[in-house]
Amino acid sequence: MTNIMDSILLQNILQYGNIGIHAIDNNRKTIVYNSTMAHLEGLEIEQVIGKDLFEIFPSLNEETSTLIRVLKLGEPILNSTQTYLNFKGHSITTISTTLPLINNRKIIGAVELAQDLTNTKILSDQLLELQSVLKRDNSNIKPLIRKYSLNNIIGQNEKLISAKKIAEKACQSPSSVLIYGETGTGKEMFAQSIHYNGIRKDKTFIAQNCAAIPDSLLEGILFGTEKGGFTGAIEREGIFEQANGGTLLLDEINSMSLTLQAKLLRVLQEGYIRRVGGIKDIPIDVRIIATTNENPLESINKGTLRKDLYYRLNVININIPPLRERLDDIELLTYYFITKYNRILNKNINRVSNDVLSDFKKYHWPGNVRELENFIEGAINMVSIEDKALNREDFVTSNFINNTTDNIVFNNLDNQALPDFMDSIEQRIINEALKRNNFNITNTANYLGIKRQTLQAKIKKYKIMQNNLH
Ligand SMILES: Nc1ncnc2c1ncn2[C@@H]1O[C@H](COP(=O)(O)OP(=O)(O)OP(=O)(O)O)[C@@H](O)[C@H]1O
Ligand SMILES: [Mg+2]
Repeated sequence: MTNIMDSILLQNILQYGNIGIHAIDNNRKTIVYNSTMAHLEGLEIEQVIGKDLFEIFPSLNEETSTLIRVLKLGEPILNSTQTYLNFKGHSITTISTTLPLINNRKIIGAVELAQDLTNTKILSDQLLELQSVLKRDNSNIKPLIRKYSLNNIIGQNEKLISAKKIAEKACQSPSSVLIYGETGTGKEMFAQSIHYNGIRKDKTFIAQNCAAIPDSLLEGILFGTEKGGFTGAIEREGIFEQANGGTLLLDEINSMSLTLQAKLLRVLQEGYIRRVGGIKDIPIDVRIIATTNENPLESINKGTLRKDLYYRLNVININIPPLRERLDDIELLTYYFITKYNRILNKNINRVSNDVLSDFKKYHWPGNVRELENFIEGAINMVSIEDKALNREDFVTSNFINNTTDNIVFNNLDNQALPDFMDSIEQRIINEALKRNNFNITNTANYLGIKRQTLQAKIKKYKIMQNNLH
């Protein structure tokens, strides 16, 4: 290779390689500092080039600086892993090799080559944490898990009762269940009830949220890992194996990646799992209950839920209505939670004022029953032991009093012109009406009291998704 080629090659490696490079001469002065290293350490190249090492890194000394140690001893330090806070305050993990630069048997400098391991470190930390949680789960944490039964699910609303009836039948079956409901509507309560009232009640019940965890880790958690399956992997069984014979609750299934959804489907169809990095097929018998907080048909349309998996899971289908669609249950639930928190907080409330109940009935309850429960708990904390009634002023910690329908409308107005705001409201109403009428145009038009043609024109105007319409 010519000298020119050498130097061009070197320049490219320095500039575009993903290895951080930092070289000093034997006066501790930086002679090479590339952009990858600058990015890693949170510095600018110009801040470092030509400067004394200790001027830039005052916290280092002759013992702690690998470059200086190599410069003094003339021997390389290979593959040392370090975690430190860089100049921007970010925690960085690197694996680095430091080499002496020798010319005519004289040490003329030292170079450090560093590779960024930060993301790998985060993943392996999460894995270790999860492993220890799983270990604890196996020992004594289980009795702490609340075991719900259908009797704990309060409500007389017609749609809720029919959901409970389906759940009752599901108890007697090993078929998959898909539960759809907004946050706080009681999906976990339904799932636990089905398991603990069912034929598998003496077997393991494991719940796994699919949303919070990166794909590569979730796969290992579900199916287990074999040694060396991916960096740092140890031999460990996944929750499919742990729940064998029992029930697995897969929460927020619509957040799982499509690739993993395909793998899950294969497992459910074939009845075997294979650990990540493994070669053995392990037979499993696990009853799946999956939940989603988004309408599954919408998820399929958006491409976040595989249709084939949906059909496989949706053998038994439970829809839990949001609280704003079961306002007839508000009073019953309110008194139920009052009794519960009287007992816990040692209070004696036996009445709730009409203003409060009417505010409750106007509110849109984005957090559903969980939100109502939290409101009541907050209010009962505010009353004294002699108080008998809950009044508006006891709800100081909740935001619903200022958030009833009229206020919601005004808060959402923002800086929009009135016609634009009216359009956005109209669009939302049409969307909701279509959903309630199963996307049938004629029924929706009747429901809204407008002509079919008018509805069609509005659907076009607002570019409402056309796939479901019929
Ligand atoms: N029908 C109900 N009767 C009594 N309590 C209820 C009911 N529905 C919900 N709750 C209360 O609300 C809490 C939240 O319910 P749950 O955890 O089952 O909701 P979720 O639908 O799984 O919510 P998320 O989607 O946020 O996980 C429960 O712990 C329970 O205290
Ligand atoms: Mg839940």
